[in-house]
Amino acid sequence: MVWPFNVLPPLTDEEFKQWQTLLEDRTGISFERHKIILQTGLGQRMREIDCANYDDYYRIVCLNKGGALEWEALLRTLTVKETRFFRDEDAIEFVRKYLFKRMLSKDSGRSLELWSVACSTGEEPYSLAMLANDCIEGMGAKKFYGVMATDICQASLSEARKGRYPPRRLEFVDTGMQGRYFNVTESGCQVVEKIKNRVCFVQANIIELENLPVSDMDVIYCQNVLIYFKSWRRNEVLDELVKRLKPKGLLVLGMGEAVGWSNAMVERVKNDSVQAYQRIA
Ligand SMILES: C[S@@+](CC[C@H](N)C(=O)[O-])C[C@H]1O[C@@H](n2cnc3c(N)ncnc32)[C@H](O)[C@@H]1O
Repeated sequence: MVWPFNVLPPLTDEEFKQWQTLLEDRTGISFERHKIILQTGLGQRMREIDCANYDDYYRIVCLNKGGALEWEALLRTLTVKETRFFRDEDAIEFVRKYLFKRMLSKDSGRSLELWSVACSTGEEPYSLAMLANDCIEGMGAKKFYGVMATDICQASLSEARKGRYPPRRLEFVDTGMQGRYFNVTESGCQVVEKIKNRVCFVQANIIELENLPVSDMDVIYCQNVLIYFKSWRRNEVLDELVKRLKPKGLLVLGMGEAVGWSNAMVERVKNDSVQAYQRIA
């Protein structure tokens, strides 16, 4: 059955509460003040599978068998995927300088380990890998580096793993980087193999970090995801992230993304345009 765009009624208060609770419990994302966004995302997916009733759809998503697949499909429509290469220029420059300093310091171990915490379609972790590669090659060093890239959304991760982007996505990549790190063809821009091979994409939910065996990171880069969380949950995630830094390792957030948060393991880096924290020891 094909039913018209406007048939789906608005969510009742009760339905909204039910969906908002489910989504926040499972992802950390709070839709409390974003009813229309939630309704639009649900409606989009329900139309795709011809489901005209919020309760029926809730039961499908919560089913023991098959519910997990539908949950993945719903995440595809509900998560905000916006990202781009070298998105936060100030933070990127800061990380570049930090990596150079780290390479020169005696704290630097045998490898550089970086983590893009909510990597979306891959532009952020590939940008970090390009920075690390520039740094290591620029210094003529023989150090290994790797970028761990995690996201809750399997569809975004599948896109990310391809490392292939339409040319307009390279708008903010300087020509030097474009030349070094992309093979440009008429059909698109492909991240070169030596960068692709350094990035490992893994599905992970940041509100369940205790299940993720990640530790000893030089840089943890976490931008534009905690803004969707309530502050108590954001603080819990940040407390988990700092445990996973090497001594003197760096946690980079988006500006204003950790208002009121502090943790004795880290100190805020003095910089007006970057929100970063360095692990003390
Ligand atoms: C706006 S994108 C940010 C992408 C990138 N970090 C940037 O700043 O350009 C937000 C990403 O957070 C992911 N996300 C949302 N909730 C998550 C969770 N609980 N665990 C892991 N990733 C999550 C979404 O799937 C989406 O890819």
